[in-house]
Amino acid sequence: MFSTVSSAIPEKSLSNEDLSKIVETSDEWIKTRTGISNRRITNEKNGLVYLACEAANKALKKQEIDPNTIDLIILASSTPDDLFGSAGEIQYKIGATNAAAFDITAACSGFAISLITATQFINNGIYNTVLVIGADVLSKWVNWSDRATCILFGDAAGAVVLQKTQKNFLLSSTIQTDGNQNKQLVLKSRSKVVNEQFGIYNREYQYVEMNGREVYKFAVSKLPQAITECLVKAKINIDDIDWLLLHQANQRILTAIGDKLGISSSKIINNLENYGNTSAASIPLALDEYVSKGQIKKGNKIILAGFGAGFTWSVIVMTW
Ligand code: COA
Repeated sequence: MFSTVSSAIPEKSLSNEDLSKIVETSDEWIKTRTGISNRRITNEKNGLVYLACEAANKALKKQEIDPNTIDLIILASSTPDDLFGSAGEIQYKIGATNAAAFDITAACSGFAISLITATQFINNGIYNTVLVIGADVLSKWVNWSDRATCILFGDAAGAVVLQKTQKNFLLSSTIQTDGNQNKQLVLKSRSKVVNEQFGIYNREYQYVEMNGREVYKFAVSKLPQAITECLVKAKINIDDIDWLLLHQANQRILTAIGDKLGISSSKIINNLENYGNTSAASIPLALDEYVSKGQIKKGNKIILAGFGAGFTWSVIVMTW
């Protein structure tokens, strides 16, 4: 059912060394605590829509898919250029004139949730071809004087095309949320008084705020449990899995989840050293890299899992 995958990254790269000139940090601290060395950041001109269109166009070109044959576009993003959603603008810019288009906001779980949503539309016979894009530009929404968060994130986009085939690629899936933990990772809007006499207020968005320790504990406790449940539903063992593709948040989180699952470290997909946490883009970005290098092969069994703000986490067990 997966027909193609591609990705796009901004040209500008920002190293740990560069960051140590902006905030009090060091390459050594960032590397040991997170595994990140570099991240890419968008410039003023080429924002989220630009990156998303680049990833989508590359994916369509790879399989020579005519944009007019796309039935639906789902954009997973929490940093659209337009608060009303950016999927419509992308539909126009890539020339997918027949496609319905909407955004899904679910932070770092957004891509996995969008993939599950797209599969529902295909399985119930409504659509044949769905373009799913995961894209985020969190560099525009971090506080560049907060060393605990600005070191973590980078910008990117990734895109896949799903097409109806006889065989369903999705073996099992889950989406779970614990709203009680929402406060641990937020990008809040706040009130701004416009006219006190008439009680008129606007909202304006602030920056990413995070309790890193709580987010870490949440990921390492919730993910292994949800993955194990999904393996049971799919009636397969962890030993049958070829690749563990987790949202690329932090090397220590990937290792801890892998250890809890008892999966070999050689099966854990990992490219966050070069890109940092790219939120909804991280899974398709890594997928593209491993497929392009020929490491992920047709028929491979993959656990794909996103987790993050909400708190929300989502797991898919699938065949490539
Ligand atoms: N450089 C140097 N020191 C830093 C720093 C930085 N970039 N960021 C924080 N510190 C300092 C803190 O100020 C603190 O100093 P103190 O002990 O003098 O108060 C010390 O390092 C430890 O801070 P702490 O926040 O407890 O570190 P940590 O070991 O929890 O590591 C994270 C911080 C963010 C790397 C870690 O909590 C983490 O990975 N959390 C998950 C984050 C994540 O993945 N979020 C996205 C999920 S989608």
